[in-house]
Amino acid sequence: VRDLKIIDSGFYPIYIGENIYYTLNNFIQLDRYKKSRFFILVDENSHKHCLPRLNEKVSFLQNAKVVTIPPGEQHKNISTCAYIWNFLTRENADRHSVLLNLGGGVVTDMGGFAAATFKRGIRYINVPTTLTGQIDAAIGGKVGIDHENLKNLIGVFKNPQAVLIDPDFLETLPDEDMVSGFAEIIKYGLISDATFWYFISKVSFDEHSDWQQLISRSVEIKSSVVKVDPVERKYRKVLNFGHTIGHAIESTILEAGAKPVSHGKAVATGMICATYISEKKLNLSRASAMQVYHYIKENIGILPGLAAYRERIFDFVLNDKKNEGDKVLFTLLAGLGHAIINQEVNREMIENALDFCIDLEGSHDG
Ligand SMILES: NC(=O)c1ccc[n+]([C@@H]2O[C@H](COP(=O)([O-])OP(=O)(O)OC[C@H]3O[C@@H](n4cnc5c(N)ncnc54)[C@H](O)[C@@H]3O)[C@@H](O)[C@H]2O)c1
Repeated sequence: VRDLKIIDSGFYPIYIGENIYYTLNNFIQLDRYKKSRFFILVDENSHKHCLPRLNEKVSFLQNAKVVTIPPGEQHKNISTCAYIWNFLTRENADRHSVLLNLGGGVVTDMGGFAAATFKRGIRYINVPTTLTGQIDAAIGGKVGIDHENLKNLIGVFKNPQAVLIDPDFLETLPDEDMVSGFAEIIKYGLISDATFWYFISKVSFDEHSDWQQLISRSVEIKSSVVKVDPVERKYRKVLNFGHTIGHAIESTILEAGAKPVSHGKAVATGMICATYISEKKLNLSRASAMQVYHYIKENIGILPGLAAYRERIFDFVLNDKKNEGDKVLFTLLAGLGHAIINQEVNREMIENALDFCIDLEGSHDG
């Protein structure tokens, strides 16, 4: 059994390791929860794959009421949220109650939001069960739901009481979801820690086995960014590296009614574009940029068929909610492990970056 890693986010503790259950058992019996009843939110998949392990290891939770929602982003909406509120109401949850979110980013985002709004706010704990959840969604306090086809349109900032991460939950996670989370791990290295980037990129995705290490460093990086800028006034924007074009790609594909792509894959393509723009605009060295292009192409892949969407992707980039006025602002790399926010980028650069990606996708030598 590996040691338990503890990270202080500045607002709440984050525990990482297969041994989180002992800590969770003690945590929920603290004085501050003396009057609390516990509720567990799961989706059908985390119910099947993760709840039995939680119940077996944390006897204190065995009598907690469980609310189960259908899986998938399409259910991260106001009607599922109402279903959770109704459940809590029917079960007489009061303001001392605590909601434990056991699942991926959909469960922690929506559970956090349901908790933040129920009776003007009850407390919640996150036990994330996907790689994306463990390194990203469950930490940082952004909670919310999608609305009218717009992602995360409705939401608030509300921190969990604690986040407990068991990397063993990843054993049942489909490959596609592992790769998607891995793209964000790459992002953490690129934006703020060259040593971590070398650690990640020295072996292929398939050869990585020490997920606890990859998760721990990612969580440290995300929480250190959030600590200095909890409500995204400025510096938190470094986390958007690859996301301006990544989101635009996701929206374009959604609008076209084509098969949705994973968030991580879209962000990976966005990171290649942003790296290309960094090379042109910030003098990121060719050698550094080549490492990024090659590693992402080989280990995540570049989305095929982008040429058909080129114009629409640009329209969506222009409408990105992170822009200021009509300026298109990107997070770019001045070097590996060193991101700079608020870089103004023009249409020509974006088009060139997309063309570069389209060529790279079609080439066979990476
Ligand atoms: N709040 C934030 O800061 C933040 C950051 C990143 C992403 N997000 C949000 O997170 C969501 C994406 O997260 P996600 O990728 O975890 O999606 P998800 O919650 O839909 O999980 C992906 C799939 O894995 C299943 N699953 C969960 N745990 C499993 C396990 N241990 N074994 C097998 N299957 C399992 C789920 O049921 C689902 O089908 C998006 O809604 C995104 O907006 C939020």
